[in-house]
Amino acid sequence: MRNDIIEYLKTEIKIRTENKNNKFGRGVLYHIEAVANNAELLANKYNADKEVCIIAAWLHDIASITDYDLYKDHHIHGAKIADEILRKFKYEEDKIELVKNCILNHRGSIENTRLSKEEQIIADADAISHFDSIPSLLYLAYKEKGMSIEDGANFVKNKLERSFRKLSDDSKIFYEDKFENVMGIFTPVSQLQKCF
Ligand SMILES: [Fe+2]
Ligand SMILES: [Fe+2]
Repeated sequence: MRNDIIEYLKTEIKIRTENKNNKFGRGVLYHIEAVANNAELLANKYNADKEVCIIAAWLHDIASITDYDLYKDHHIHGAKIADEILRKFKYEEDKIELVKNCILNHRGSIENTRLSKEEQIIADADAISHFDSIPSLLYLAYKEKGMSIEDGANFVKNKLERSFRKLSDDSKIFYEDKFENVMGIFTPVSQLQKCF
């Protein structure tokens, strides 16, 4: 395991999220950490290259947090930044290619073909990461968007359902309990009010 690269990335990503050019707030660091944790879990499950998955997870949104202008095509810019960083560490050529493909194909919103297990893992880890950051989603709904209790609950619930639908079929089964547990929180507000 190239712990030198992983440790460098953890520090570098933290520094970039704290920089004023990061328009996504500190919460994005929780997102990236959650993607890295889920990528490791899924790499074990699918017998994939764990090192590549962890490195790709730490790098997958690097372009967005570095410069908001890169957000729209952050998968393309991110792959370029990853190439530069990993080359400095003299990482193996075939693994650099795999990491770059993971970054290029991580976005569920963009039509793409995922050829390797590692690419699918990063896309799945990115989608499921929302289930590890419910407080951030609630903060977004109630504090930043100023939503009512009901609208905020529906906003978060819909976002989570969309994320879950993006998962590969095997990962949907793997994360079924997590999905049920989290969705259980969103008892319709109309039902809650009957309790009082
Ligand atoms: Fe992304
Ligand atoms: Fe992401």
